[in-house]
Amino acid sequence: MAEARIIDGKRIAERLRLEIGDEATVFRKKTGIRPRVVFILVGSNPASEVYVRNKGLAAEEAGFSHETILLDESTSEAALVDLIHTINNDPATHGLLVQFPLPHHINEEHVINALAPEKDVDGFHPINAGRLAIGKGHYFAPCTPAGVIEILAREKIEVSGKHAVIVGRSNLVGKPLAMLLAQKNPRANAVATLAHTGAGARLPEITRQADIIIAAMGVANAITADMVKPGAVVIDVGINRIEDATKKSGFRLVGDVDFEAVRHIASAITPVPGGVGPMTIAMLLRNTLTAAERQTL
Ligand code: GUN
Repeated sequence: MAEARIIDGKRIAERLRLEIGDEATVFRKKTGIRPRVVFILVGSNPASEVYVRNKGLAAEEAGFSHETILLDESTSEAALVDLIHTINNDPATHGLLVQFPLPHHINEEHVINALAPEKDVDGFHPINAGRLAIGKGHYFAPCTPAGVIEILAREKIEVSGKHAVIVGRSNLVGKPLAMLLAQKNPRANAVATLAHTGAGARLPEITRQADIIIAAMGVANAITADMVKPGAVVIDVGINRIEDATKKSGFRLVGDVDFEAVRHIASAITPVPGGVGPMTIAMLLRNTLTAAERQTL
C-alpha cells in the first residue's frame, strides 16, 4: 500500500526560525533596534509554563529582546488590564502575548480587547480577526493557522483551486484558517469548507471530498481512514493527551487524525508531535518581527 510523505514540521520551523533570526539582524543593523516581545503568564498551569518557556527560548535564539512576566494566580482582571495598557504604551515593546487559558476569574475576551492590535502578535484582537476576514490592511493572523499556510507553501502543496476541508470552528484555528485558505493570493485561493460537529453523521461524506483535510477539532484520532480520499493531504492541528501506561509520564500526545491508518491513504501527512506544533512559535517570531518593522519603519 502507498505510504504518505511525512511532513517534518520541526525541520521547517527550525529553518524558518533561522531565516527570521537573519532578518532580525538586518533590521537591527538598519535601525539599531531589536524586536521586543513580552509574554505574560498568570498562575501556574504546567502546560502553559512549558509553552511560555519555549517561546522565550525561541525569541532569545532569534536575537529578540524578550521578557516573561509571571503573575500570581490571584491577580485581578483590572490589574492585568492595567499592565497590558502600560505595555501597549511602551514604544520599546513591539509584541505582547498573554498566555491562555487564564484563571477563571479573568474574562479572556476583556483581556484580548485590552491589547493594542498592532502589538497583538497572537492575532486574537477583533481588529486583527476582522482585517483577516476582510483581507485588507495591517493585521496579524493567529500563529497556528499561519503556520499551516507556511507548511503548505514550503512543502509545495498546491492549494489554489483545491478543496480544503477544515474540521473545527475555533476562533484560534478553524475560523481563521478558513479565511486564510480562501484568500485570493497564490499561497491560498482554495475552496474552503469549514466543517464541524454540526455536520453530525455527514462529516465523513464531507471530508471525503477534500483534497486537503485540516483537522482542528481537538478530538483524539477522530479523522479515520474511511474519511480520507486516497491521495489527499492531511494536516493535523490536534494535540491530545491520551493515557499510555508504557510511558513514564503515563500519557502520550496524539493528534486529531488516526495517523497509523490515514498514513496509508493520504499522499502527505503531518505527524503529532513534530508537525504543525513547532510552526506556531516560528510564526510568533514572524509576527513579532513584522510588528517591530511596522512600528519602526
Ligand atoms: N494557549 C494555547 N495556545 C495559545 C496561543 O497560541 N497563544 C496564547 N496566548 N495562548 C495559548
